[in-house]
Amino acid sequence: MNLTDLVNPHILSQPVYEPGRPIEDVARELGLDPTGIIKMASNENPLGTSPKALAAMRKALDGAALYPDGGCIALREKLAARHGISPDQIVVGNGSNELLEMLGHVFLRPGDEVVMGAPAFIVYKLVTRLFGATPVEVPLRDHVHDLQAMAAAVTERTKMVFLPSPNNPTGTFNESEEMLGWVKGLPEHVVVVIDEAYVEYLEKEPDWSEVIATGRALVVLRTFSKIFGLAALRVGYGRMNAEIAALLQRSRQPFNVNAIAQAGALGALGDQEWVTSCRQSNAAGLQQLENGLSKLEIPFVPSVGNFVLAEVGDARGVFANLQGVGVIVRPVGVYGLPQWIRITVGNETQNERLLTELQRASIDQASR
Ligand SMILES: Cc1ncc(COP(=O)(O)O)c(C=O)c1O
Repeated sequence: MNLTDLVNPHILSQPVYEPGRPIEDVARELGLDPTGIIKMASNENPLGTSPKALAAMRKALDGAALYPDGGCIALREKLAARHGISPDQIVVGNGSNELLEMLGHVFLRPGDEVVMGAPAFIVYKLVTRLFGATPVEVPLRDHVHDLQAMAAAVTERTKMVFLPSPNNPTGTFNESEEMLGWVKGLPEHVVVVIDEAYVEYLEKEPDWSEVIATGRALVVLRTFSKIFGLAALRVGYGRMNAEIAALLQRSRQPFNVNAIAQAGALGALGDQEWVTSCRQSNAAGLQQLENGLSKLEIPFVPSVGNFVLAEVGDARGVFANLQGVGVIVRPVGVYGLPQWIRITVGNETQNERLLTELQRASIDQASR
């Protein structure tokens, strides 16, 4: 028997998602002390997790013998109050990545086209392919999503459009007014997915409530992995009209979000002061990194997120040099950017260390 004859053909060509390297893994491979390694590769929060969220999670451990609330009732109620919508307009996922997959289950079939920017968060392409649909990639213009070109790429076969704002890996965003007008102008047979994984880093968030209320097929995703500091727990959520939410609920596992994660998300939502301080710290750290890159004459894309894309030349080489001294960044060749690395904003000391090592790594590269 030939196993590949049994396999769905699109799985055979499906790449495996490559995450930023974990600290323990790098320490083991290179014989480094893990406590001396800093990870600036996966856009996590360098300040950790809100103390209130940590306390809530510790308490939730006492209930570990019981299944979690499969409907995430308390969390959906809190999120609904926050966004001024009803709990039945919210779906919670095991990270926002799971919501991307639920969208695939509900809407995508072989033959469908899915329009997305390039480069944009790679999981859009992976999910599209996973369901046998076809990614239609529209190049960014000056590193920003080109909404006109994306609208022009929509055909009768287009089932879904992805728009991350701010975008990963570029750190750029589209203005609210422009996005709202764009969504309204897209044909109704297209499901629009706005990914707001980094929106809390912006001074002002777009308001989608009016468009969602019109019944438009629009899903707005958010995550607790970034500013809320809960990446390890895997919680994200989507806002949408109740009809779409009911469909997504059918596609998920019965207990997709664990009890500790639900408690952590509730705790994090109750600590707005902490979120505000993380936003301020990120703004200062981003400035520090961008100033440092300018001084080193390393081109970068001005960012509004918690990371910055820098053009270092031989990005794989620079990545390896940095990793060798315990600084993990993300080379982004997989995004079609072989000369660039993506650096997550760290705390002040981490940023300083990154800049010092980057200067050394770049000199090493240049002298080869
Ligand atoms: C744009 C974007 N969307 C979604 C995600 C996934 O977030 P989660 O951890 O909630 O699955 C990421 C993670 O890096 C991201 O960059």
